Amino acid sequence: MNQISDFIIKDKRVFIRADLNVPMQSGIISSENRIKASLPTIRYALRAGAKVMVTSHLGRPVEGHFTEKDSLAPVAEYLSKELSQPVSLIKEWTQKSFTVESGELVVLENCRFNVGEKANDKSLAELYAKLTDVFVMDAFGTAHRKQASTYGIAEFCPKVCAGLLFKSELEALEKVISEPKLPMVAIVGGSKISTKLTILDKLSDKVDQLILGGGIANTFLKAQGFNIGKSLCEDDFIPSAKKIIHKLESRGASLPRVTDVVCGKNLNEKEPAVIKSIHEVLEDDMIFDLGPKSMISISEKIKQAKTILWNGPIGVFEFKQFSSGTETLAHAVANSMAFSLAGGGDTIAAIESYGMENNLSYVSTAGGAFLEFVEGKKLPAIEILERRTN
Ligand code: 3PG
Repeated sequence: MNQISDFIIKDKRVFIRADLNVPMQSGIISSENRIKASLPTIRYALRAGAKVMVTSHLGRPVEGHFTEKDSLAPVAEYLSKELSQPVSLIKEWTQKSFTVESGELVVLENCRFNVGEKANDKSLAELYAKLTDVFVMDAFGTAHRKQASTYGIAEFCPKVCAGLLFKSELEALEKVISEPKLPMVAIVGGSKISTKLTILDKLSDKVDQLILGGGIANTFLKAQGFNIGKSLCEDDFIPSAKKIIHKLESRGASLPRVTDVVCGKNLNEKEPAVIKSIHEVLEDDMIFDLGPKSMISISEKIKQAKTILWNGPIGVFEFKQFSSGTETLAHAVANSMAFSLAGGGDTIAAIESYGMENNLSYVSTAGGAFLEFVEGKKLPAIEILERRTN
């Protein structure tokens, strides 16, 4: 696909679609990572003397209705501080005309306020394209959405390319999915096997070790014949879990053995964490984390890996007493010599909460897009960027 460096963008109107969908608490940005990750492309365009417009979605507002909580105002303010230059926020930018000078950056208010954005409305996409000489797609986290600002605009713009973040996200994923160095370990956590079945199925064709966490691990433990008490489990998916175990074993790959777990009777902040052998789980127990012995053997597998893909926490890491598994895992991945790639909303939150985001080879900014890419789906933004290559 075209890259931003393929074009002379001085004095050109450059429209960057970034993913600045950052978590907010009462109007305050609680993690700036996505904005920081988008800065290299914005800086590149500014230094090249372009007239720079950047837009993003934030949250999921109702189209046509402005809501303060979904405004990109705090993002524009953050960008202005980081770049040490004024950054105006342009509201209702599809309805009124505005100008941008060379070397200036403006933030175009949340594109999901625009009617037709999500449906990839043709006339809205054409309107975006009319504002633009070069469209730069840098929102890898939104690459799985076929919307007017992620897809439609690229149909009508004279020049289309990927941004620097988009490029590095793709390179990291390609490295793990297309040409992994072996042994490869994948860690898949999360509450429901049903939402990650395709990914588990894909990975079971590739990996040497499949480490599981959360409700997914419980369903596999039950499929292996262990009593998991009242733990979160999807009984309907036990046959699927058995198939995956069989597929792994027939390739000489495996699931690391779980020997101990951390249980509680109820899920709340004050619930005491009780470490038990996997054979001692009672009918009224719920498994909320893997135990220290299990984590030692998992850490050992991680040490031997040359490629690591991580999506999903091991336990209920939001509660301190059930977070050891995820924290031990984060340390093991951070200390490994492997190429390590992590992605997905909860995983990023866990890694950030341990301050480990700089210790992995690559932490993706993407949640849903990361999962769909690993599942093998063609992401719409990738499809159009490839199609519009010249
Ligand atoms: C994300 O947070 O995963 C991306 O920004 C996409 O957001 P969406 O699920 O609201 O499209």
